[in-house]
Amino acid sequence: MTDTINAGARQLSRRATLIAAVAALALSATMNGYFYSLQGAQGFYVWYPMLALKVLLFMGLAPITLAVLALPLEKLAQKWIMRALRWISFIGSILVSLASIGLLAFLIVVPRLGSMEPARLDLVNPSQGIVAQSAQPAAAFSAGNGGTADAQAAADKRAARPGAAPLSPLDRPLLRLAFSSDPHWGADTANVGARTDILKGIAAERPDAFFMLGDTVETGNSVTQWNFALSDLEALIPSVPLRPILGNHDALFGGQYLYRKAFWPKGFTSDSGSPYYWSIKAGSATIVAIDLPWGTENFGPRQRSWLEKTLAAADPRKPLIVISHSYFYASGYKDPKTGAPWYDHYQNIPAIVPLFEKYGVDLVISGHNHYQELLSHNGVNYAIVGSMGGLPDPEPTYRSPWSQWINVGGYGWLDVNVLPGRLALTFRSETGEARQSATISY
Ligand SMILES: [Fe+2]
Repeated sequence: MTDTINAGARQLSRRATLIAAVAALALSATMNGYFYSLQGAQGFYVWYPMLALKVLLFMGLAPITLAVLALPLEKLAQKWIMRALRWISFIGSILVSLASIGLLAFLIVVPRLGSMEPARLDLVNPSQGIVAQSAQPAAAFSAGNGGTADAQAAADKRAARPGAAPLSPLDRPLLRLAFSSDPHWGADTANVGARTDILKGIAAERPDAFFMLGDTVETGNSVTQWNFALSDLEALIPSVPLRPILGNHDALFGGQYLYRKAFWPKGFTSDSGSPYYWSIKAGSATIVAIDLPWGTENFGPRQRSWLEKTLAAADPRKPLIVISHSYFYASGYKDPKTGAPWYDHYQNIPAIVPLFEKYGVDLVISGHNHYQELLSHNGVNYAIVGSMGGLPDPEPTYRSPWSQWINVGGYGWLDVNVLPGRLALTFRSETGEARQSATISY
């Protein structure tokens, strides 16, 4: 009788151990699969090689391994080793299951906690394109907000220096664009004054569109930080056509949900079908956004073939401008904590630059590094504009061989005026002074 009970308990224990281990493996795989499916998560693993992330990835394998190792030990006369292994496996299964459920809930629930009111912003819908104020019908003027004559007069005033002759048609911008990146709302280290000045300066300029190239917030799953960003944007640039893209910080821990809620309202569509990469017909220019929050982790075959098709189909008479969060050529430094090389991007350059060179991209504008920099290589120009308020990166220990100019420690934005046959670039400080100018023929 006693033998029967012992055999039953042993049988039950083996089955329970295996069932618990398989359940833990399934839960861990589900959690990791969901995390990996999120924007920027794979890049987080690649660019932050922390032990804790590796443990998350492989923890589901530990209980099942121990449970299987315990099976042949059943034949030993000494049963305590087998029992100990089963118990370790069983307790491990419970811990792994709880951790997986907790993390899955964290990724799904936290971005959805709290409320986010849609901000009154003039968001650019990529499928609708951008209309230059100088190309708008005269009726727009009577609306009194961003009208043709007003905008043109403002453009003339800005372009003219004291004592300069009036603008000739060749100097009159066909399209006026502004770019900046990495404001990092919610970061204690961000410079609120500089960020505010930049937004005020851009609002005063009234460009045809302002592109904010990612890292709008410090931690993407924080509704509070997105609300800070939206209320400032609404207060400071409510009527500037605005198109943000997703940065690695915006994407953190399920932040893509809040990015879409903030900047991709219902009804917005794109030629790629994705809210993260698309092209915009902007009248006298073609603007193409690529989804590179960290590097090429989200740049799969679908995005690659769309990009190649889009670049090939671009009108060769118009300038072709590419925007992305992470950069291609850039000066920078080796991260002291992780060893990550924050300069000439080892993933983006080999994967995508050949397409830029093949299809005649004129200008690539990115953030991610918190500098202002201008570079040029093989006929393609690269601008870094990660200067919208996030903590400036340290003095570069690596200077890209293709760097032409760099500003370290400053804040500001980049104006790109599309003129007949050329692009006029002006890197500005947070108060609007021109730090560096350049002209690119197209
Ligand atoms: Fe950043």
